[in-house]
Amino acid sequence: MKISYLRVSVTDRCNFRCRYCMPEEEKEFIPHQEILRYEEIAEIVKVFSRFGVRSVRLTGGEPLVRRGIESLIRQLKEIDGIDEVSLTTNGFFLEEKAELLKEAGLNRVNVSIDTLNPEKFAFITRSDEGSLGRVLRGIEKAKEVGLNPVKVNTVLVKGFNDSEIEDFVRFSASYGVEVRFIELMPVGGEFFSRDNFIPVSVVKEFLEEKFGALEPARTVKMGPAKSFRVGSTGALIGFIPSVSQHFCSECNRLRLTSDGKLRLCLMSDREIDLKELLRSPNYTEELLERTVAGAFLLKRRVDGVSALESLGCSRKMFSIGG
Ligand code: 5AD
Ligand code: SF4
Repeated sequence: MKISYLRVSVTDRCNFRCRYCMPEEEKEFIPHQEILRYEEIAEIVKVFSRFGVRSVRLTGGEPLVRRGIESLIRQLKEIDGIDEVSLTTNGFFLEEKAELLKEAGLNRVNVSIDTLNPEKFAFITRSDEGSLGRVLRGIEKAKEVGLNPVKVNTVLVKGFNDSEIEDFVRFSASYGVEVRFIELMPVGGEFFSRDNFIPVSVVKEFLEEKFGALEPARTVKMGPAKSFRVGSTGALIGFIPSVSQHFCSECNRLRLTSDGKLRLCLMSDREIDLKELLRSPNYTEELLERTVAGAFLLKRRVDGVSALESLGCSRKMFSIGG
């Protein structure tokens, strides 16, 4: 599989504390001096672009809490070969930032919404009841300024949001956004337990019973999501079977953590320290190129064995960025 996609976590900090992602009091954020500077990220992406990376997604934590993120977007868009820069956000700061992001060259955004009920939203994000409204206004603003297509990520949690599937269908149709259901992964947070897990197949069956056979949508396939039109509702729904199906052989991505470690697989702790290399007195671009070439070879070997390595993820989600 050609590696064309790089996820870059720009911070491990976040204004929310989603229960499946972060403990309430996270005291061990990465110290500022250990976080890659924007110039360092751009240098790394430049080298990756020579190996065929075309698309970069900025994640966190929450990428919009990092100051001046638009200047990073601008730098990344200037790199030859980088066709697309996108961002995964909790949407809280989107209303105020969408325009700036668009101007900087951002192509599109994914917004995380796990429930359409303001009280439940406040509960799961450990924030207040105004949050959901703000996020929804953020989505409208993003659409208005042309950060399209906007996609919504919904992590399925049994007993929490599995009663809202039809609400999400209506929401998808009325907002004109694709909603993608993601299986809860056993990484970080207090919320995960086997009892909370629902496979996406259950949601799919529910929708088929209710609305008839789902029609595969013709979307550009960049990742593991499969998208469908739901009957005549106009909704576009996607499924990300992060736990129930291994898509390692189709994996086209690498991940860069905010402290400059290249991760070969979300679930595996195999990391290559690019920051150490960048900051060493002997640093040359050629050295970075050779290291990245090595990482690409290793990545191929991770294919398929990452299932076995799935016990090996000790980082929490907010320090990887999903
Ligand atoms: N399982 C599944 N998805 C998760 N995310 C964060 N933690 C988990 C988890 N344990 C999601 C966020 C966001 C995306 C980057 O990852 O909700 O949509
Ligand atoms: Fe923040 Fe996203 Fe984690 Fe929620 S899931 S705490 S919004 S990083």
